[in-house]
Amino acid sequence: MSIADDPDRAPARSHLYAMGLSDEDMRRPVVGIASTWTGTMPCNLNHRELAAHVADGVRAAGGLPMEFNTIAVSDNLTMHTPGMRTSLISREVIADSIELMGRAHSFDALVAIVGCDKTVPAAIMALARLDVPAVVLYSGSMLPGRWRGRDVTIQDMWEALGERAVGRLDQSELDDLARHACPGAGTCAAQYTANTMGSVADFLGLAPFGTGDIPAVAPEKDAAARRVGQMAMEALARDARPSRILTEDALHNAIVSVAAMGGSTNAVLHLLAIAREAGLPLAIDAIGEVCRQVPIITGLKPSGGPYTAADLWRAGGTSLVVRRLLEAGLLRENVTLVDGRTLADVAAQAEERPGQKVVADARQPFKARGALAILRGSLAPDGCVLKLGGKDDFRHEGPARVFDSEDACIAAIEADLIVPGDVIVVRYEGPAGGPGMREMLSITGPLVGRGLGASVALVTDGRFSGVSHGRVIGHVAPEAYHGGPIALVRDGDPIVIDSAAATLDLLVPEAELERRRAAWRRPEREVERGVLTKYVAAVRSASDGAVTA
Ligand code: FES
Repeated sequence: MSIADDPDRAPARSHLYAMGLSDEDMRRPVVGIASTWTGTMPCNLNHRELAAHVADGVRAAGGLPMEFNTIAVSDNLTMHTPGMRTSLISREVIADSIELMGRAHSFDALVAIVGCDKTVPAAIMALARLDVPAVVLYSGSMLPGRWRGRDVTIQDMWEALGERAVGRLDQSELDDLARHACPGAGTCAAQYTANTMGSVADFLGLAPFGTGDIPAVAPEKDAAARRVGQMAMEALARDARPSRILTEDALHNAIVSVAAMGGSTNAVLHLLAIAREAGLPLAIDAIGEVCRQVPIITGLKPSGGPYTAADLWRAGGTSLVVRRLLEAGLLRENVTLVDGRTLADVAAQAEERPGQKVVADARQPFKARGALAILRGSLAPDGCVLKLGGKDDFRHEGPARVFDSEDACIAAIEADLIVPGDVIVVRYEGPAGGPGMREMLSITGPLVGRGLGASVALVTDGRFSGVSHGRVIGHVAPEAYHGGPIALVRDGDPIVIDSAAATLDLLVPEAELERRRAAWRRPEREVERGVLTKYVAAVRSASDGAVTA
């Protein structure tokens, strides 16, 4: 019975009248519109406008839209601050917020407008929990900036810090680049974490192919948002719930998209978390298996080539990627898409721009294998993630240079204490240890900028930004905070990374490791308060997606 017709819900009616709603409005299906707008960053800056367009679409299709929004955290703004610890934690808060609003208001359907990195998996996690018909709208990438005649993105900013450190760039040039790198609203402009997860939302079937590709500031975005509002009503009519869409085959296709588009290592954490929320079995090794078999077919920065997300949109978008992957037999077709199409429909409707160079045929890919690999070994018994960036396999053996925090490592890099061959180990930066699993961009950017990107390796229980590259291994599990082997490493210990064998080993005799294990004590640290304390108590291993549920 609707609120309008239930005699006992007069108090609720009076609140809705206060909002200007009529009895007729109250008899319509209610579509919650969750936007992840915050006014603190460019990534999600267009969400309020998009929410208004989605609401128009809902109304036009006979529904009653109700908007709300969550928090969001930008890694670029928090990177050099204690706030960086909040980034991954925000995923849980956003998921919980959307879930709580969904439970509180019993929406008949939902639209989730997402953009910046954590907002995408967070919304999908919440939708999986709520299991009401729902559509995801990815709010769109930023356009690239132009500087000295070339396209630039936030990746250039981070690497410019290292170039300044070695004198290849002075402060005024760095400042000039900062003024040009990010020209307006939207998510970081290439296949970094946000766009990787936007593609994941498409390939999972929750976001309609063709809507997320549209850059944030493109005029076409508004009409796409209105269409998404209508789609939410259609999804309600078809009872297109996440439990019908989030299947093992859909999850497989999402992993294929990460591999084929050279996506971010953060996708590993988020896919594991989404699988867990959806009740789907997914082991971290399965992601590595797909990445070994699927080539990178998009020439997107940072792993595939020189192009940005806006180039992909102009070339034909993720629909064109679907076409190429179907031609290569790399996708599972028995999946349900939220807009009612099949993958074959999406592929057939893809509009490939003549002469485009961004999406390749899978037989002539940009790189022969995916952008990441899952390794195991004595240093990471529960697995870790190697950022391969589509590069050839390599073997790196070198002495450990151990740091108990990202900050200590940054100081050593700035003092020129890191030399070629070193295996930098940064620990106590895991989900519980950080807490919050900081991204090591303040390390990887300067390493690349100093020309050390290919000659040193970095191993951490923290994680990486989508723009990080070099020989970097993150998500080492178990993490140091829980006494994993990474906690036992000492300066000078030999460490071997073998990407072809998918191994990461600490070459220290087991008897010696046992001695160290017996003597190990978790280092003292400042007592956290509030959300950090709650997070440390609840968060699981990176190999379980660092979920808290
Ligand atoms: Fe928000 Fe990159 S920091 S999308």
